[in-house]
Amino acid sequence: MIPTAHIEVKEKGIIAKTILMPGDPLRAKFIADTFLENVVKFNNVRNMFGYTGTYKGKKISVMASGMGMASIGIYSYELFKFYDVENIIRIGSCGAYTKDLNLYDVIIVDEAWSESSFAKVQNGYDKDIIAASPELNKKLEEISKDLGVEIHKARIHSSDIFYRENFEEFKNIYQNQGCVAVEMESFALFHNANVLGKKAACLLTVSDNLVTHEATTSEERQEAFTKMMEIALGMAE
Ligand code: HPA
Repeated sequence: MIPTAHIEVKEKGIIAKTILMPGDPLRAKFIADTFLENVVKFNNVRNMFGYTGTYKGKKISVMASGMGMASIGIYSYELFKFYDVENIIRIGSCGAYTKDLNLYDVIIVDEAWSESSFAKVQNGYDKDIIAASPELNKKLEEISKDLGVEIHKARIHSSDIFYRENFEEFKNIYQNQGCVAVEMESFALFHNANVLGKKAACLLTVSDNLVTHEATTSEERQEAFTKMMEIALGMAE
């Protein structure tokens, strides 16, 4: 069944077993240009760029997921099921729900909580919390330690909605669900990994704070997430 509807690769081996997924195609390009050697671009469909290269001699791929669970749901499913990808590590940004998190802090997602119907519709799974792969998280924590990067391991909110009419609702989600930050993809990614017997994890950098209203610009975001990228690249094998 390859190429698939959204990825134009004709041979499976072109995509590495481990793939990093930023939301933004330009961030995928930035990672390939800045950190990888022997780079081959494998996907252009919808400009959702994908690259394979080597990092410190080890093979790794990076491909954008787009924004939201609908988008990462499509790409992660195709990568896991049809291209023999074993590990997907999302590297994204998040909005902090507490003033205890600063801009550029790095989070390793322990669990994603969501009010989304993604998992229920996908296969009837009706719980609202899905965990990341403990095995991948253990490795990510070890790499962070080796690099001397302080990380927060936490439960986050995977939201379907960026622009909520009731902005203040985040305070209830922080209090009642214990989510320290919000992004829009992990719950679907972790679900697909579970359904297909694969592994997924997510690293996030805080790009804005809903309590203090501090924020980064999109240029700053593209290039300033180096700490997180280096941790994720350490997963190359
Ligand atoms: N909401 C949802 N996703 C995000 C945010 C946010 O405030 N910031 C970064 N990703």
